[in-house]
Amino acid sequence: MTATTLVILGASGDLTQRLLMPALYRLHTLGLTSDLRIIGYAKEAWSRQHFEKHIHEALQAFAPDFKTADWNRFRRQLDYVGGELQADQLAALKDKLAPSTLFYLALPPPLFGVAATALGEAGFSKNPRGGWRRLVVEKPFGTDLASAQELRARMHDHWDEEQILRIDHFLGKETTQNLMVFRFANRFLEPIWNAQHIAQVQITYAETLGVEQRAAYYDKAGALRDMLQNHLMQLFSLAAMEPPSSWDAEVLRDHKVEVLRSVIPITAGSVNKHAVRGQYRAGKLGRKKLAGYRAEPGIKRGSDTETFAALRLEVDNWRWHGVPFYLRSGKRLASNYSEIAVQFREVPGPIPHAVDAGNNWMIFRIRPVERMDLLVTAKQPGGKLAGRPATLSALYATPDDREFSAYEQLLMDALGGDRSHFLRFDEVEWAWKVLTPVLNAWQKGAPDFYAAGSEGPDTQARLLDPDHHWRSIAL
Ligand code: BG6
Repeated sequence: MTATTLVILGASGDLTQRLLMPALYRLHTLGLTSDLRIIGYAKEAWSRQHFEKHIHEALQAFAPDFKTADWNRFRRQLDYVGGELQADQLAALKDKLAPSTLFYLALPPPLFGVAATALGEAGFSKNPRGGWRRLVVEKPFGTDLASAQELRARMHDHWDEEQILRIDHFLGKETTQNLMVFRFANRFLEPIWNAQHIAQVQITYAETLGVEQRAAYYDKAGALRDMLQNHLMQLFSLAAMEPPSSWDAEVLRDHKVEVLRSVIPITAGSVNKHAVRGQYRAGKLGRKKLAGYRAEPGIKRGSDTETFAALRLEVDNWRWHGVPFYLRSGKRLASNYSEIAVQFREVPGPIPHAVDAGNNWMIFRIRPVERMDLLVTAKQPGGKLAGRPATLSALYATPDDREFSAYEQLLMDALGGDRSHFLRFDEVEWAWKVLTPVLNAWQKGAPDFYAAGSEGPDTQARLLDPDHHWRSIAL
């Protein structure tokens, strides 16, 4: 890689400590970023030494393979500048930037627009000769359609769409990328990856975590904005899209947008058929007693914010006509369980000897382990021709593999200029459009309650076709 600078705005914050620096450190140990200079920028008037100490502590806590010898090399890549998000203060960075510079907004969402403007006013958004300038923006991109459009317009005052990399870290996850490879690289799947053969798709991201230290953000956002609008919509688009002719960023994103545009619009009158929201009450996980959401520190008394959201989406195109896609995610559920599960239709006719054949399922498990499972029926050993369920199972990674974390993957892509795994604005826009009627309806009324440590509210069942059941998240 030619000399490049990465400027992290919000370098004293949580994202930098927990995710960005451990990813950058690992990339360094793999020898992938030797020419990268990393400048932390934040409002604290820290010295470079102080910043180093801060990052040293973060890596000891969050980098799994921390070694002092590696750290002593990595620390030489670090620098720090203190200042506000104002052009005159950002100007202090000027002499430190290589022609090719990536600015990373690891900031609270209300500051995304402010930072993009200030960087532009400081003259940092213009691609210099022989180099480039790019801007990475964390999620959430807006809090609804109108605010996303406003933020986009503000960013475009100084930055071109090609320079803006909107992160959805799920696109950097190994299983997400495997979904694309596995779907299209295996001949046996494509002929049956359609409404004629698929009965339903369930995408679940269940977490045992509660709101943790993020009450201020989460109580305003809720599960629909925090997980469904971005991460689960992306998994849905990838599962449903047409085969792209290349992994080219524009082709890929055109295909994903096409899916979102084909979703049958949810209307004010159909919200209850398509969406369920829940909120956790006090409960138990194993023997551990858990407080209810409304009793969590920092949560507004009587808050109606949803900590669980489920959707039923239908895609109106030839491939998917009549196939429900069920998406759900929630906090304080029974387990950390996540998967994309595709159920095939039953075999078309009876099997001689009345062998009982269950539906096949193809499951991409994300957690607790990354694994692919194909649920089939095989003969029951013994004298009779009877069937029993079997699972063809493959672990995604072997012990010799060098998996990348989502942030490692996406930082490499951002530095290398590959935009395939970042969101183009129309993806964000269409995801908000699909959800706007739900967001509007949920401004009033209360969520359905579920006990912390459970599988979510019972009412989620109302989204399903009569012969469908939510898959269990119990481990
Ligand atoms: C984040 C959400 O984007 O994704 C969190 O804000 C959620 O609420 C997290 O816990 C889940 O992703 P991961 O990769 O940490 O499991």
